[in-house]
Amino acid sequence: MAASPSETTDLRLDPETIAAVDASDMLGDIVGLPEHLRDALWKVESANLQPWDSPGGLVVAGMGGSAVGGALARAMLGDHASRPIFASRTYGLPAWTTPDTTVLCASYSGDTEETLACYEAAGALGATRVAVTSGGKLAELARADGVPVLPVAGGFQPRAAVAYMTVAALEAARLCGAGPRMGAEIDVAADHLEQLVVEWGAEGAEDSEAKTLARALYESVPVIAGAGLTSPIAYRWKTQFNENAKMPAFTHELPELCHNEVVGWNDAPALGRFAAVFLDDSDTHPRIKERIALTRELIGDGATGTHLVQSRGNTAVERVLSLVLLGDLVSLYAAVLRGSDPTPVDVIDTLKRRLASGSGGPGRHQP
Ligand code: F6R
Repeated sequence: MAASPSETTDLRLDPETIAAVDASDMLGDIVGLPEHLRDALWKVESANLQPWDSPGGLVVAGMGGSAVGGALARAMLGDHASRPIFASRTYGLPAWTTPDTTVLCASYSGDTEETLACYEAAGALGATRVAVTSGGKLAELARADGVPVLPVAGGFQPRAAVAYMTVAALEAARLCGAGPRMGAEIDVAADHLEQLVVEWGAEGAEDSEAKTLARALYESVPVIAGAGLTSPIAYRWKTQFNENAKMPAFTHELPELCHNEVVGWNDAPALGRFAAVFLDDSDTHPRIKERIALTRELIGDGATGTHLVQSRGNTAVERVLSLVLLGDLVSLYAAVLRGSDPTPVDVIDTLKRRLASGSGGPGRHQP
């Protein structure tokens, strides 16, 4: 149950207050991002896979927290991606998948049915397969088929294994000839993130950017906009608001939203409390920067607030991960302000269970 504004406005976001709500220490997993990156690098290097050539590029097949690694890897590689890299979040593979394509099947649990369907489809098409998983059916099938498995650390919620999924996608891109080696950039980004953890973490100032944004957003529906490199991060913010803070949240991208969504803000106050967040980056096209400024001005009356958030760091890897860390912390703090344990995702578990037992399918609905 969400706490009322009067109960939470003055709530401090210090380690003790957070621990009282965050029973499974999601905060620890979020601020562990730098360490996870280093461990993930070590794990993929230890797997010691030899490169191969996939002129058709890379498809990263996965869902939810396991899919995000492919999209973030694509953003980090930017112009350094020499072949298509595509994140597929459904039961099937893109129609252009051929034996010349590598398919990375990413499922933290190893039991996600959409990803398992992609694994089978990739095998039937003769595509080169790689898996990244902590176990489950996917690990079992891969072992039986001689498909290489990139390991991830166990014991996380899938969405908290974002470092492992991203490093695995970068490694798959390198192995199949779609991207360069990124180990050095990841190491530098891990060091950079350590500093941001100090600034934005629970021990940081009460008026840090992360805590201030959480206070501004936790009682509104966040509508998060990205552009280019920040688009997949906007989607990560949305999903982290959903799963950690148990709040509805939506995402869109520029410049497209200037051609439709911008009109929808007109009547927003009559429908609810909506806040706009724009994720910006040093590499954002200058005209898109102008569009952000204008859009903020034009929708201002319809929103409970409009917020501009800047990525931090030099390389694309640093900048992407800085915004991932910030969004993860903001969603965690929003959960605490709402008095809601960030870790459990009961509805997802119920949905998967009911699908598995056949009680949720078409025609089984009670009228
Ligand atoms: C839960 C989460 C979910 C899962 C998704 C797929 O923390 O983030 O979005 O990632 O349900 O499950 P896995 O990752 O096990 O394939």
